[in-house]
Amino acid sequence: VYQKLNYYITMDRALIADLAEVAKDEALLQGVLMRIQEASNSSELVTYAPFTLFPTPVPKAVFLQALAVQTHYNTLVDRISQDPDFLQEALASTIEVDDFTARLFRIHQQILKEGRAQSIVLGLNRSDYMLDQAKDGSVSLKQVEINTIAASFGGLSSRTADVHRHVLKVAGKLEESRRILDNDPASGLARAVAKAWELYGSHRAAVMFLVEESQRNIFDQRYIESHLWKRNIPTIRKRFDNVSKTGSLDQDKKLFVDGREVAVVYFRNGYMPQNYVSEQTWDARLLMERSVAVKCPDISTHLAGTKKVQQVLARPGVLERFFPDQPGVVEQIRATFAGPLHSRHEGDKTVAMALAAPDQFVLKPQREGGGNNIYGAEICRVLQAAEGSSERTAYILMDKIQPAAVQNYLLRRDGPLEISNCLSELGVFGTYVRHGKDMVMNECAGHLLRTKSSEHSDGGVAAGVAVLDNPLLV
Ligand SMILES: Nc1ncnc2c1ncn2[C@@H]1O[C@H](COP(=O)(O)OP(=O)(O)O)[C@@H](O)[C@H]1O
Ligand SMILES: *[C@@H]1O[C@H](CO)[C@@H](O)[C@H](O)[C@H]1NC(C)=O
Ligand SMILES: *[C@@H]1O[C@H](CO)[C@@H](O)[C@H](O)[C@H]1NC(C)=O
Ligand SMILES: [Mg+2]
Repeated sequence: VYQKLNYYITMDRALIADLAEVAKDEALLQGVLMRIQEASNSSELVTYAPFTLFPTPVPKAVFLQALAVQTHYNTLVDRISQDPDFLQEALASTIEVDDFTARLFRIHQQILKEGRAQSIVLGLNRSDYMLDQAKDGSVSLKQVEINTIAASFGGLSSRTADVHRHVLKVAGKLEESRRILDNDPASGLARAVAKAWELYGSHRAAVMFLVEESQRNIFDQRYIESHLWKRNIPTIRKRFDNVSKTGSLDQDKKLFVDGREVAVVYFRNGYMPQNYVSEQTWDARLLMERSVAVKCPDISTHLAGTKKVQQVLARPGVLERFFPDQPGVVEQIRATFAGPLHSRHEGDKTVAMALAAPDQFVLKPQREGGGNNIYGAEICRVLQAAEGSSERTAYILMDKIQPAAVQNYLLRRDGPLEISNCLSELGVFGTYVRHGKDMVMNECAGHLLRTKSSEHSDGGVAAGVAVLDNPLLV
């Protein structure tokens, strides 16, 4: 199937160059935008967010499988977040060696001790997959990770379908252009935020986007803000230090920042150690967690999204704990796990396996944000260096997913126009609002396809490695 759809491989150079210009202009027209690196806090200079010239063929059955399993993942993460014993057990060994996770966990424990102030929970997540290709050519959906905090590109990916449709039409591929699905995660994400805001129940209170220092990807977030303003829901953008300086709780634990009551805190920051530059930053996180503002995610859901939890879920019997009477759901979720995820902690057998065939594995530290994973010979070096020390429990070892490479052109500012062997990663957005015991919303909000050159084993769009793409269903 892939080869048949690689029609553009035969297109001549002049046509490709023309199409690339058309594609970039269309991306600008559609608002697939990013600020430029050199001026990340000003919209005076913007460019198109990097994207592929052509959409990537994805088998329809596997795509639909990813959409179908999403609401179960929503339920799973939510149940984990409400199971303190499970979180404690799952993270115990990580906390011993990983300061960052330990600090998050301490906030979690303090909140549990005080009692959660807010019973409304808002989840905006993205579950990421790659399509593993077996030796017989069959393709299966394998989960890379689940993101419960700051999952990005829901905004921009709402605008890329039209860009690829346009390119295909200009290339004379009308039939193919019809195989690109509509996709609008931005409105789905906004719908969930709006629901949480309504349940909070104060018209003057704002949705606060907690944003990074460098705001290169601001347009991705602006789409969601725009949707909220259309519903007459006020939004504000604040950094950690704005919250440190001007944030406070009143006697009812209502959160005020810069004089404004905050109904929902939407974290687009706070998932990496580097985001916490000082003790004041940690204090600000704690302040927000203690408040009655709805947190997206709250601290327990943040922890439920850690890689360690992903690993523990892959152990026999663990999914059953969360779906005791639903073997069908367990099976559906387990089908997307990429082989047993091993912990260095779990004995030398798995390590021996990795040392013997490092190219079959990915070694992951307990980190988010791209560029942290370890591959190939480096795996041996790291595992051997950590031999016998507790540091090894800071890593999880995962079977490497082996997708088929597809050729494409990656369009990025200042990048050369050349054909690359590419690998893709499919993300599916899940949204979820719970009020006490009532699940008031649990939806699949759309998808994201990211594609990178196969030379890079790691890294996302923000890291400058992957680019935005669309699935072309086959
Ligand atoms: N099991 C795997 N097999 C193949 N590639 C992987 C695997 N796990 C991660 N990767 C690659 O590494 C990248 C980053 O890993 P990920 O688990 O998503 O961590 P992060 O939180 O940094 O995004 C992924 O986008 C993917 O390209
Ligand atoms: C997203 O987060 C919410 C809680 O914030 C969680 O309940 C939900 O299961 C998550 N969904 C996915 C797909 O991770
Ligand atoms: C937030 O803090 C930054 C400094 O990090 C400051 O420049 C900015 O004016 C503050 N913004 C608001 C709206 O308070
Ligand atoms: Mg990732």
